[in-house]
Amino acid sequence: MKKLVILTHSPEETIELAKKIGSVLKAGDCIAYFGDLGVGKTTFTRGLAQGLGLPDEVSSPTFSIVNEYHGKGLSLYHFDMYRICNEDALETTGFYDYPLDESIFAIEWAENVIDFLPENKIKITLEHIDDDTRRITIEGGERFENFKY
Ligand SMILES: Nc1ncnc2c1ncn2[C@@H]1O[C@H](COP(=O)(O)OP(=O)(O)OP(=O)(O)O)[C@@H](O)[C@H]1O
Ligand SMILES: [Mg+2]
Repeated sequence: MKKLVILTHSPEETIELAKKIGSVLKAGDCIAYFGDLGVGKTTFTRGLAQGLGLPDEVSSPTFSIVNEYHGKGLSLYHFDMYRICNEDALETTGFYDYPLDESIFAIEWAENVIDFLPENKIKITLEHIDDDTRRITIEGGERFENFKY
């Protein structure tokens, strides 16, 4: 499967890219983020919310573990799995209670719960190149292969 690799040069560019990705998401899509502290996972999610037509005041779910966004279209559930390290802990987040089949999940620190994520997840890897530059790699199906940015 081909990967989409894009460099962004500011948070605004990351948000613009994420907005385009958000606008082609479908019910049941599960986004699994990979990337270090402060690389831009929450910033990307802010763009996703915009692309889904949701309010864009997305904040980090560091303390809440999950933030929910609801609007006219698909709902977004934004998880921070930084402290989640086994299936019991995962269960306490509500992961199994939220209706993925009719919404979108976006999961920070996906590596911590990788065994429990759906097979057809969309993998988004963010890498820090310099202060303002990020390399963003998107893997997850034909929808993104011919994506123009
Ligand atoms: N090209 C870029 N794309 C995204 N963010 C950028 C970029 N350049 C600089 N930044 C800055 O990097 C930081 C990213 O923070 P953000 O909270 O989105 O990261 P995170 O990966 O969610 O961190 P954490 O692991 O702590 O949750 C912000 O301060 C943002 O302004
Ligand atoms: Mg974050």
